[in-house]
Amino acid sequence: MLIRAAVLEEFGAPLLVREVELAEPRAGEALVRLAACGVCHTDLYTASGADPSGYAPTVLGHEGAGVVERVGEGVSSLAPGDHVVTLFSPQCRECVHCRSERTNLCLAIREQQNKGYLPDGTTRLSSKGEPIRHFMGTSTFAEYTVMPEIALAKINPEAPFEGACLFACGLSTGLGAAMNTARVEAGSTCAVFGAGMVGLGAVIGCRLQGAERIVCVDLSEERLGLALAHGATETLVGGQDTVERILELTDGFGADYTFEATGNVAVMRQAVESARMGWGLCTVAGVAGKGETLEIVPRYLITGRRVAGSSFGGVKGRDGVPQLVERWLDGEFDAESFVSHRLTLDEVNRGFELMEAQDGIRSVIELS
Ligand SMILES: NC(=O)c1ccc[n+]([C@@H]2O[C@H](COP(=O)([O-])OP(=O)(O)OC[C@H]3O[C@@H](n4cnc5c(N)ncnc54)[C@H](O)[C@@H]3O)[C@@H](O)[C@H]2O)c1
Ligand SMILES: [Zn+2]
Ligand SMILES: [Zn+2]
Repeated sequence: MLIRAAVLEEFGAPLLVREVELAEPRAGEALVRLAACGVCHTDLYTASGADPSGYAPTVLGHEGAGVVERVGEGVSSLAPGDHVVTLFSPQCRECVHCRSERTNLCLAIREQQNKGYLPDGTTRLSSKGEPIRHFMGTSTFAEYTVMPEIALAKINPEAPFEGACLFACGLSTGLGAAMNTARVEAGSTCAVFGAGMVGLGAVIGCRLQGAERIVCVDLSEERLGLALAHGATETLVGGQDTVERILELTDGFGADYTFEATGNVAVMRQAVESARMGWGLCTVAGVAGKGETLEIVPRYLITGRRVAGSSFGGVKGRDGVPQLVERWLDGEFDAESFVSHRLTLDEVNRGFELMEAQDGIRSVIELS
């Protein structure tokens, strides 16, 4: 079928919204009609050419939500009409990682997915016979996509798509960092660095876990205001003295849990140093630039601080995303409040501009 999609043809150039060919789902795959898709940093990172593992031509987008239209042979967990959130982090439920409680990093389709291919090593997207790759295995800046069954989370059909799509990346990453990776204990003190989609998700996650104090640090007063609305108890404008100020707020000890959601390695260091001696845990969710390293004075570790990384918030997508969506629908937090701009597919490049200008938390493309 012919569909409209936002194609990255040349790094550094605007995405081109045009018709491409999408083939029928093969065994283990499903055709999804997309309804909404958030615009995230990773899309821009690849579009700009800064990502050394980037490839083109490809259809970008990975924060999608929509409806299953058709399924390929052997698909048993999905049926036409199901509402789904797309997962760049799949869950096969069979590999050694899926069978462990300790990680969400499914190994099943990793190699092909990293190269932009579906699990059988081919693409369903093409143009004039030339293959177009599936960015992050999702390619959701499009009217339709074909994805593996193991990379689609079936959600409550009552969830509005606009809010649901945020669970495909940033929101689940923040929530999960607090709930799965750090497993914040009730009554604890937390410090969250960054109040974008990921940081605000972490603030909510800390609140849902019953944290007593949640200090949020950002450069933007406006974003710190949002953090307070979502459950932060104190805010700080970030700077050179952030660590000292967090220590002052915590009787000189630091926070039980710290979260880094900026992608800046200097802030990651602050997050490590703001964690409490003895048991403080720093969870890093931000993605640093190519070649950057995180400096840690080893004394911080010897004296009992720990550092953990978190991809997609440690959420096993097919099991975890539907549960997070239920908590949203139960009114425990407001996912739709993060949708600051609604765009058409043709306006996708505007979504990148808004993100660069830090205008709003998330722009969402409305697809159908
Ligand atoms: N681990 C994952 O699976 C995963 C998933 C999605 C996004 N990410 C990464 O998480 C990070 C955050 O994503 P986002 O969508 O929330 O981004 P964002 O740009 O919306 O938010 C980042 C926030 O950090 C703040 N900030 C910048 N410098 C700061 C400083 N010195 N001190 C305090 N705050 C500072 C900014 O003001 C901004 O509000 C990015 O690096 C992104 O690539 C990781
Ligand atoms: Zn993302
Ligand atoms: Zn797996």
